[in-house]
Amino acid sequence: MAQKTKSAVAKISKPQVIRAVAPLRAWVSRVRAKGETVALVPTMGALHKGHLALVRLARRRADHVVVSIFVNPTQFGPTEDFSSYPRTWDADIAALSQLSVDAIWAPNIASMYPEGFATRIVPGGPAIAGLEDKFRPHFFGGVCTVVAKLLLQVAPDFATFGEKDYQQLKVVTAMARDLDIPTKIIGLPTVRERDGLAMSSRNAYLSADERTIAPTLYRLLQECAAQLKIGQSLAELLGEGEAEIERAGFSVDYLEARHAETLAKIATIADGPVRLLVAAKLGRTRLIDNVAV
Ligand code: PAJ
Repeated sequence: MAQKTKSAVAKISKPQVIRAVAPLRAWVSRVRAKGETVALVPTMGALHKGHLALVRLARRRADHVVVSIFVNPTQFGPTEDFSSYPRTWDADIAALSQLSVDAIWAPNIASMYPEGFATRIVPGGPAIAGLEDKFRPHFFGGVCTVVAKLLLQVAPDFATFGEKDYQQLKVVTAMARDLDIPTKIIGLPTVRERDGLAMSSRNAYLSADERTIAPTLYRLLQECAAQLKIGQSLAELLGEGEAEIERAGFSVDYLEARHAETLAKIATIADGPVRLLVAAKLGRTRLIDNVAV
């Protein structure tokens, strides 16, 4: 009986919040000394069910889970939403407490980027595919630099990333491979709302009207994928798809069919495996999504 109470308490035990590299490394060393494994889930907080699915995947793979929460200024452009990005610390901690997360790595900006910080990773390959990089030129340099730091700080056996940010997943995978970072990068399929909208911290920006339109993006992507499978020509389909998405009320940044691994351009679906990727603004909110063909 006493034991039952103990395990119930343990289930919602608060993760340890670590704010500096030295205690983080000491914690990881203690775990490693016991021969146990560690998984890292990098996030910018404002956690939703997509993030929590990444935590569950990490939980299944490793003995210990570290979730990083750091809104990384270097991946935001000067006109982007760094200062208004949603910050929901108390709710995040409460959600992670339910999932037996061991530690939350929450550095501040000055400790990640101290005075004199002067090194930045410049990713190529999938990071210069002409997708997100074309519209957010700061983005992947900032992501790679912070993810490399997180991987070196935590030195995890595994790190989990979502397919929701498909290009980011491919860029981080290539970086870990190219720099011989000994962490296995694991991808997770996109977690969606019941109406199909990909979960995103930025969905909080949508007005009630926009929220009713938003799932159309996924629906039209799926329709495009179905048309491609039954043999419609790529160029024609992408033109029609873009027009449909615009008609639904979005302003399209890109709708592209790419090689699912390299993100290289393809002429026909025979050059695949193919991934359809889209980015479009609905009012002031920029949404991204992607599906396999
Ligand atoms: P953030 O947007 O907080 O996302 C953290 C992780 O959650 C990323 O791997 C992202 O792909 C994943 N994710 C977000 N929405 C998801 C969904 N609906 N389904 C599945 N996974 C989802 O991506 C970042 O932060 C940052 O760029 C980061 C990698 C932390 C570097 O700063």
